[in-house]
Amino acid sequence: MACEYFTHKGVLFPCLVYSPKELSYVENEFQVRDDDIFNIAYPKSGTNWMLEILSLIRCDGDPGWVRSVLNWERAPLVESQLGLEAALKYPPPRLLSSHLPVQLFPKFLQRSKAKIIYTLRCPKDVLVSLYHFSKLLCLFKDPGSLDSFLEDFLSGNVVYSSWFDHVTGWMGLKGNENFFSITYEELQEDLRGSVRRICHFLGKELSEEQVATVVENASFQSMKGNKMSNYSQLSDEYMDHQNGEFLRKGICGDWRNHLSEAQSQRFDTVYRERMQGLGMTFPWD
Ligand code: A3P
Repeated sequence: MACEYFTHKGVLFPCLVYSPKELSYVENEFQVRDDDIFNIAYPKSGTNWMLEILSLIRCDGDPGWVRSVLNWERAPLVESQLGLEAALKYPPPRLLSSHLPVQLFPKFLQRSKAKIIYTLRCPKDVLVSLYHFSKLLCLFKDPGSLDSFLEDFLSGNVVYSSWFDHVTGWMGLKGNENFFSITYEELQEDLRGSVRRICHFLGKELSEEQVATVVENASFQSMKGNKMSNYSQLSDEYMDHQNGEFLRKGICGDWRNHLSEAQSQRFDTVYRERMQGLGMTFPWD
């Protein structure tokens, strides 16, 4: 089954660890609680970084939890088979993760006060990160050449389908009081200020010292050295650990080291077409 994909309501998923049955359950039956916090992002946009930040905020900056419990147990990916099982057993208040596009997200969200934190990242960096990650994660197909992967990414022929649809879909919730969006670039630029803003959104004020310990323990180096957060514990069945690490570079603008001028221009053309109606600007624009 490894490396096979299926399409569910027009969105691509790997056959390993996902199924149409669970995806339908999550969309139509999964009960969202008012005290749920959802960490949502398109893959490779900083999902696990935000997961770490939220985990640390939850514990007032105390790193005990992030050093003793695996990240995918702290905030299970609700749409995967094991993640759903964990979410259903999770004692409230729950911290949950998801890469789902908005139209496949649990519809009970609309009737709840659950909080959504949506993280976005420069899509060229997402592309490059996803390209490398596809060589590690056994669930994903080999990405082939960067040229062909670029076309797959632009047309949405990748797991979780189109970045453009994901971002435009979720950003439609901007302005809702339970929705907070932030970019990977903002986290890089000012992690301390970002943590404060996230705390404010969550209604959880931390002291300066506590914010400082969140920042310290959510740094790239801390996460890289923490086996509960660096995916070194993920079984070889899922990840080829010989081929690289999950925490690869952790920088902004790495696309410049990979995309040719022609590839970058091709990306920009599609980006302009797909994003012009959104009326928003991002740090990478
Ligand atoms: P790179 O491949 O560019 O290094 P996701 O968690 O959504 O899968 O995103 C993974 C990307 O976020 C990877 O990007 C990873 O290195 C980066 N990342 C994870 N934790 C980070 C941190 N603390 N600081 C900066 N980047 C981080």
